[in-house]
Amino acid sequence: MKTITINGTNDERFSSAAKALREGRLVAFPTETVYGLGANALDPQAVKRIFKAKGRPLDNPLIVHIAKVSQLNPLVKEIPAQAEALINAFWPGPLTLVLKKSGLVPDEITAGLDTVAVRMPDNPIALKLIEEASVPVAAPSANLSGRPSPTTYHHVLEDLNGRIEYIINGGPCKIGVESTVLDITSGIPAILRPGGVTMEMLEKVIGKVETDTALKPEDGIKPRSPGMKYRHYSPNAKMFLFDGEPEEVIKKINSLTSENHAKGLRTGVLSSLENKDRYMAEVVVNIGSLSCLEDVASRLYNALRKFDEEKVDIIYSESFSEEGMGRAIMNRLRKASSGMIRS
Ligand code: TXA
Ligand code: MG
Repeated sequence: MKTITINGTNDERFSSAAKALREGRLVAFPTETVYGLGANALDPQAVKRIFKAKGRPLDNPLIVHIAKVSQLNPLVKEIPAQAEALINAFWPGPLTLVLKKSGLVPDEITAGLDTVAVRMPDNPIALKLIEEASVPVAAPSANLSGRPSPTTYHHVLEDLNGRIEYIINGGPCKIGVESTVLDITSGIPAILRPGGVTMEMLEKVIGKVETDTALKPEDGIKPRSPGMKYRHYSPNAKMFLFDGEPEEVIKKINSLTSENHAKGLRTGVLSSLENKDRYMAEVVVNIGSLSCLEDVASRLYNALRKFDEEKVDIIYSESFSEEGMGRAIMNRLRKASSGMIRS
C-alpha cells in the first residue's frame, strides 16, 4: 500500500482523506498530545485494521475522538454531572473520559468492556478531520505497538509508512505525551493514565481524584486501564532509570558508562539541560530544563527515538519530580525502562 501525505487542511486532498476515513480506511493525524491513527469508530472492520497496522494486542481498548460535544451523547449511557464539569473545563484538550458505553460502540473498540474512553482533541486539523468525516474516530497513538509514541510527522512515517492510507502532516505536537485517562464510572474518579491534564488541574474542578493503584510500582495489581499493563514507549536498547541525589546519580552513570565503554558498548544518557555537560556517555540527549516539565514532556518521545537512531546499546535516564506534568513523564519513563536504580 502506498501511504499518501497530506499537508494540513489546505491540501486539496484533505477532503479525500476525510472521506476515506469515513469509508473505513486508516488516516494518521496530528493532535495536541501525539499523532493518532484514526479509523471510523462505528465500523468494526475499520477498527480491526488499526490493531493490524500497529501490531496492537486486541485486549487494549481504543479512545474515541469527537469534534463536538453533541457527538458524545450517542456513544454513552449517561453523562454524569462530573463529566459535564470536566468537559466544560478541559475540552477540547488532553483529557479522556471513561464512561458507560451505549450499544452503538462496537466491542472491537472497547475490548469487550462496558465502558468507552472519549476525548475531544485540541488541534484544528484533528477537529476538521473528524467534522468532515462526520463520524466519531477511534485512534490510538500512531506508532507500532511498543515503540515510543509519535510526536512528529516523521515519527509516524518511520513506523507506519506503507501500512496505512494517509498521514496528515501537522508539524510537531504541542504537548508531547498522551492525554490523561480518567475513569468516572464508579466512586471517586481515578486517573488510569497520567497525561496532559494534571491531577492538580482535575482536583480544582471536581475535588478528590485517585490514582489507579496499578500505576504505582507494586506488583500483581490488575490495572483498570488494560493498556497500562504492557511495556511501552520503548526505545530498542534497554533503559534504566536513576533516582537519588543528583551528584550521586551523575557519578554512578559516569562510572557505569566507563565500564560499558571498556566492553565496547555505546551508552546513551537522557539528561536534563542542567546536567547535560557532565556526562561522559557517547550520546547525551538533553530533554529540557528541570524547571520546565512541560518542555521535558514535549521532547520526551523524540529523545527516546533519538537513541534508536544513534544505535546505543544501553540507556540511562535521570528522574524528574512527580508533580504536575512530572507524573506523566515519570509514568512513561518507568514503562519504557527495564528497572530503577537508586543511588
Ligand atoms: O493523547 C491520546 O490519548 C492519544 C491521542 C492519539 O489522542 N491516544 C492514545 O491512545 O494515547 P492509546 O490507544 O495509545 O492509549 C489509550 C489508553 C490505553 O491505556 C487504554 O488501555 C485506555 O486508554 N483505554 C481505552 N479505553 C478504555 C476503557 N474503556 N477503560 C479503561 N481504559 C481505556
Ligand atoms: Mg499508545
